[in-house]
Amino acid sequence: MKLNIALLAGDGIGPEVIDQAVKVSNAVAKKFNHEIVWTSGLTGAAAIDAVGEPYPDLTHEICMAADAVLFGAIGHPRFDNDPKAKVRPEQGLLKMRKKLGLFANVRPTFTFPSLIDNSPLKRERIEGTDLIILRELTGGIYFGERGRKDDGDTAFDTCTYTREEVKRLAKLGFEMAMARGKKLCCVDKANVLETSRLWRETVQDMEKDFPEVTVSYEFVDAVAMRLVQWPNSYDVLITENLFGDILTDEASVISGSMGLMPSASIGVHTSLFEPIHGSYPQAAGKDIANPLATVLSAAMMFEDAFGLKEEAAAIRAVVNKSLTEGIVTEDLAGKEAKAYKTSEVGDWLAKNI
Ligand code: IPM
Ligand code: MN
Repeated sequence: MKLNIALLAGDGIGPEVIDQAVKVSNAVAKKFNHEIVWTSGLTGAAAIDAVGEPYPDLTHEICMAADAVLFGAIGHPRFDNDPKAKVRPEQGLLKMRKKLGLFANVRPTFTFPSLIDNSPLKRERIEGTDLIILRELTGGIYFGERGRKDDGDTAFDTCTYTREEVKRLAKLGFEMAMARGKKLCCVDKANVLETSRLWRETVQDMEKDFPEVTVSYEFVDAVAMRLVQWPNSYDVLITENLFGDILTDEASVISGSMGLMPSASIGVHTSLFEPIHGSYPQAAGKDIANPLATVLSAAMMFEDAFGLKEEAAAIRAVVNKSLTEGIVTEDLAGKEAKAYKTSEVGDWLAKNI
């Protein structure tokens, strides 16, 4: 099979972790007789520096022409403490999500048996955790009307959702639940917010179409607490953009390292696959960042974008092997154990595919 993949390395550690995912993907392609055509595009601070715009039109064209997008990370500290900066790398990410129609962000949380003790949470709490947070990605307060008034002394951001936006996200959630544990949790703040009441009403209306799925409705503040107390009681959670942003960072702690969790963003055009961690600028260029989240995002890409299940399984198997054999970067290596470089982990994975 010929796979046309757009490659957006982005900022910080993005290029380093992407390099490893490319090595591993190429090894898988060789083993299973596929041909991958990679086309690189600029995003984030790197794109601002080159063309003054964090998601250039050319990059968008590359993504639209591809079968899938593999993405590193966006963000640079030089913009973080400057509330007056006119262009920010993150705007590129939001523009990309909107223009590619990536309305659903799939963020799984699972534990690796060999890493359970790396988690700050107790083993008995997290064993068996296997949940998916399905975050709405192109609506809500991220994209609502915003501004200043009263000479700049008052600021506002608005959260808007349409029934259609909720429906298409919830439909995916129901379908995912059907393919897994048949449990769906709608996370909202319906005791306060009108948009949340629309979410609840819409999901309630859909229950009859998925009679096998057990649906619960929980407030986001309670979920924030339950997620770390009883993560293994959840299966699929659906939620709006900002709640999902916050809960998925929280959930990533369960597995013991943010450097491990992959994600997929799907929608109306090309799907995009990326690690959930950020650009980790302190580590950029040092060859120390954990490439596994990006490598596992590539596995999701083989499976979800191309239906190549065996290829995805081969990647996951080799990642598990690297974890049990201790071929890991410094974030996972124990105090006494040797820490491998980002590129060494990538080479090892590619060799062992
Ligand atoms: C994420 C990130 C982004 C978001 C930022 C960088 C705009 O935190 O992908 O979760 O808030 O969506
Ligand atoms: Mn986030």
